[in-house]
Amino acid sequence: MDLKTAIKQRKSVRRYMDKKPDWRKIIRAIDAARFAPSAGGQFALKFILVSDEKKISELAKAAQQDYVGTAKYVVVAVSDDSKLVRSYGGKGVRYASQQAGAAIQNFLLVLTEFGLVTSWVGHFYEDQVKSALEISEDLHVEALFPIGKETKVKGSERRAKPDLENVIYFDKWKNKKMTPQEKVSFDAI
Ligand SMILES: Cc1cc2nc3c(=O)[nH]c(=O)nc-3n(C[C@H](O)[C@H](O)[C@H](O)COP(=O)(O)O)c2cc1C
Repeated sequence: MDLKTAIKQRKSVRRYMDKKPDWRKIIRAIDAARFAPSAGGQFALKFILVSDEKKISELAKAAQQDYVGTAKYVVVAVSDDSKLVRSYGGKGVRYASQQAGAAIQNFLLVLTEFGLVTSWVGHFYEDQVKSALEISEDLHVEALFPIGKETKVKGSERRAKPDLENVIYFDKWKNKKMTPQEKVSFDAI
């Protein structure tokens, strides 16, 4: 699958087939994450691949979202911002979550390439996730990703996205008009 297709096909899916996804594909998606940019080259993100049913149900409770408990695997992304904070002070906290987002998008795109689906779960009680997975207090749980194979149901189409003209300004904030540029051929996404 080419990059453009993966970007466009990725969508949040919250219903999964009973069939277990191939864990090797999940590991390869995690592998893609480490190629993301990171502040000062300090990669601060770790992934926990959870397959234990009891732990998955604890994660679903921590997230207060039942569908999380229906996945055979849940990946939990955890940042350790301590080195970034040492290098960049308060900004290190922000850098850690920004680079986690970049790494997570790599992970999501490779899952899509392999035909696996997930939904980013950002709502959860962090202390409960930490206690279920024995994560130390100083670390930061970024998100949970229940992973499965998609069950096609009505209404599982990709959500509408903002139009390009609504996300781009030119030269200054809120200026929607582009100053004429030299003509180039452009294969629009
Ligand atoms: C930071 C963040 C937190 C999110 N938290 C949740 C969540 O707790 N539960 C959930 O089902 N989806 C969650 N989502 C997924 C969004 O609902 C979803 O990405 C959005 O509706 C756009 O749909 P799409 O992913 O199909 O493009 C979260 C997404 C992000 C980026």
